[in-house]
Amino acid sequence: MTTITVIGAGNIGSAVASIGIKAGAQVQVIDRNRDKAEAIEGAKADGFGSPITGNVVVLALPYAAYADVLSTYAPQLAGKTVVDPSNPIDFGSFGLALPQGVHSAAEELAARLPESTVVKAFNTTFAATLAAGTVNGSPTSVMVASDDADAKALVSSVVTAAGLRALDAGPLARASYMEGMGALQIILGATGQTPWTGGFAIVR
Ligand SMILES: NC(=O)c1ccc[n+]([C@@H]2O[C@H](COP(=O)([O-])OP(=O)(O)OC[C@H]3O[C@@H](n4cnc5c(N)ncnc54)[C@H](OP(=O)(O)O)[C@@H]3O)[C@@H](O)[C@H]2O)c1
Repeated sequence: MTTITVIGAGNIGSAVASIGIKAGAQVQVIDRNRDKAEAIEGAKADGFGSPITGNVVVLALPYAAYADVLSTYAPQLAGKTVVDPSNPIDFGSFGLALPQGVHSAAEELAARLPESTVVKAFNTTFAATLAAGTVNGSPTSVMVASDDADAKALVSSVVTAAGLRALDAGPLARASYMEGMGALQIILGATGQTPWTGGFAIVR
């Protein structure tokens, strides 16, 4: 059975946890506020600092919190598939808030976690469409990028088993496109051009 740990029980954490549960995975949710994790039906709730039990770990956190969270959890992430759903946005300028010379949050994460396999996923659609599983009647599209084919296939299989559509976005370097897409969708949402319950979808 696939085992998933989601760190962060906010919008994306609860949506991705629900995808894991629908897919039949064993899901642990860790949050500083254990009550928020408890509210996710079907998941095992734990407080921040608890040991990670999943082999797939989703960092459902603001990108700015990654360094803080990794200071606690980096050693436990060795050998695991680490999923980065972040959109590293500066909400003042709506530009990408990345250090100079860094192309994507996912590639920076991979550099910080050389013993983990990093997958970029779940950042190109709003949380509401991940939780609903559909956008305007079509399965919600989840772009998945990684340099590791097995890790990409594992995350994609969870997405597909939950009834959503996984699309192979290619190697981890494509995360920069995905983060640009995520930023653009947030801009469209913030300017009222798409509802937070809608957004991008691949229609076939
Ligand atoms: N919302 C969307 O539609 C959407 C779509 C695509 C991608 N994303 C990306 O998904 C990620 C999460 O977004 P979200 O909307 O789910 O945010 P959110 O609802 O604000 O949830 C963020 C979670 O991160 C935790 N957290 C924040 N700082 C922390 C720290 N220093 N240490 C430990 N935990 C910390 C919070 O814990 P507490 O409960 O303790 O505060 C909370 O559970 C972001 O990177 C965002 O760019 C979001």
